[in-house]
Amino acid sequence: MNESMAQRTNSNAALPQIKPAELRKFHAALDTWYKAHGRHDLPWRQTDDPYRIWLSEVMLQQTQVATVLARFYHPFLAKFPTVEALAAAPREAVMKAWEGLGYYRRAGNLHEAAKKVVSLQSPVFSKNVKTLMTDDWRLATLLSLPGIGRNTAHAIAAFAYHQPVAILEANVKRVVARILALEAPSEKALWAGTEALLNSDAPFDYNQAMMDLGSLICTPKHPRCDACPARSICRGKAAPELYPAPKAKKRVPTREVIILVREDANGRLFLAARDAALLGGLYGFPQINRQSPVASHQQKRSTETLLATDDWRLATPLGTVTHVYSHFKLIGTVMHERVPAATNSPDWYSREQIAVLPLSALDHKVLALVENSHTGKKKPRKRSGLRQPD
Ligand code: ADE
Repeated sequence: MNESMAQRTNSNAALPQIKPAELRKFHAALDTWYKAHGRHDLPWRQTDDPYRIWLSEVMLQQTQVATVLARFYHPFLAKFPTVEALAAAPREAVMKAWEGLGYYRRAGNLHEAAKKVVSLQSPVFSKNVKTLMTDDWRLATLLSLPGIGRNTAHAIAAFAYHQPVAILEANVKRVVARILALEAPSEKALWAGTEALLNSDAPFDYNQAMMDLGSLICTPKHPRCDACPARSICRGKAAPELYPAPKAKKRVPTREVIILVREDANGRLFLAARDAALLGGLYGFPQINRQSPVASHQQKRSTETLLATDDWRLATPLGTVTHVYSHFKLIGTVMHERVPAATNSPDWYSREQIAVLPLSALDHKVLALVENSHTGKKKPRKRSGLRQPD
């Protein structure tokens, strides 16, 4: 197939044909490159423990390697070294270990999946009984667990069990789209592409190498095609930045809320257990949506009370906090209200209790604003406009 044919390939077209000899040459070049340049020392590449590999894959779903390595992977494993330990842990302890990593639904699903695996006595994460499982059974079991989709199931199967399946995470999507010159590929086309390119004889090294290729050579901007082990097979190398075609940036809407900090005479603060999908399992200060009087991310009960009394209008403004989530930017006006000593309602927490509760990044900012207002400190300057962990 020539370059101009490849460039016309889109989501509906058949994949470009690749000759077996061409594929073998690519596999050999990729293998040599990976041996010399791959990130072999990543801890989840130095283990065959499926639990550790699963954890790394879930953490890496929406978070960069450097962040996961620096602050989350090892501390999480120190607290929950096995799937049994994770299953036995209280939800709050799991959420606390995830605090700052964002996308908290991942932690909830991880915990639910661990409980399911342990209660069913499933061997899917047991290192020692690998030989009892068939490949199909293993994939079906992994896919039946909360939070495990096709890419994560394939990654666990390939990395822990050397099962010949291809992965399709963000870097691999770009590499596949470029090698096959797919301009606007559907998920289906990308899956077909990644499977067509797989080296079934070396699923561990091949899949890890494809991710490294995407992160070190076939980068979104200024890919280094001259140093690329895929250049002999690559249909997109004449104009790699066309594949996949850049998507128009979506404008994220802004949501404005009032965040109410109620502090009682004993220095306890009112927190609501969040139950919404975004931050479920965390605790936070009640929020009132400024655009419409609808509960936003907190227990409905506490919101209704606040709306009914309009108490917050008499509270003292402390400043604003902002946070950029994946789908919207939140601007919160923080209002502080002192109230008489609360009764023994469970929603009031001392500072010591709050230190061990899982709070979102936004609520940590609110808390810092409150503490600074008590000590008279100024709000620290914002470091960057980049999306931060939730
Ligand atoms: N992202 C997802 N899985 C990964 C892995 N095994 N190594 C590096 N980055 C990844």
